Amino acid sequence: MNVLVTAGPTREPIDPVRFLSNRSSGKMGYELASAFAGDGHKVLLVSGPTALDVPEGVDYLPVETAAGMHEAVGHHIGRMDIAVFAAAVADYTTAAPATRKLKKSADTLRLELVKTPDILGSARQTFGFAGTLVGFAAETENLEANARDKLTRKGCDLIIANDVSQPGIGFDSNHNEVLLVYPGHARLLPRTSKHELAHQLVQAVLELHLAKR
Ligand code: CTP
Repeated sequence: MNVLVTAGPTREPIDPVRFLSNRSSGKMGYELASAFAGDGHKVLLVSGPTALDVPEGVDYLPVETAAGMHEAVGHHIGRMDIAVFAAAVADYTTAAPATRKLKKSADTLRLELVKTPDILGSARQTFGFAGTLVGFAAETENLEANARDKLTRKGCDLIIANDVSQPGIGFDSNHNEVLLVYPGHARLLPRTSKHELAHQLVQAVLELHLAKR
């Protein structure tokens, strides 16, 4: 199977030395890429900047910005059977990044932000992807309802939802607990290491892919 995985944060430039980003470590996406490759699949990992080593046997395409990730995904998704969007893409980027380093002057500084392209939302609608589409949802409330809304809105087959209000799991942690939200039902995968969880998720995604065909 050809599998695309997006991972990590994106960096949205403010000026040549500063950026807006988030606390995503990229661990979940890298563990998933590694687990798919270990299971014999051909994996392309499109990743924003992380401190992680590229997993063995995985093709790696580094990107910086949401726009860069959107372009890379658009270029490669056509030949994929499965696409898993684990990246924490910035929802907004700077309207006009400065070409020179901003100097300190006034007491306040206003940045104008504009929406980034929704990469997962583009998969079906813009890129015409017909394979198995899996998204992530990081929520602080109404986990299942919010994830189900994303599932429908973005045309996904599965949303892997995690509750980021719970300490010790999710962002920047080695552990996670997720709710698998399918069109007709939901299933909890209880708290475990991201490494172990990645193997469970690969099995769930492959089962879904085979059932879809
Ligand atoms: N995602 C994406 N491109 C974006 C934003 C998000 O591909 N510009 C993907 C993420 O990789 C993830 C899923 O969309 O798989 C959910 O992201 P999230 O930001 O929670 O979704 P939103 O629709 O932006 O919802 P919210 O209003 O909760 O931010």
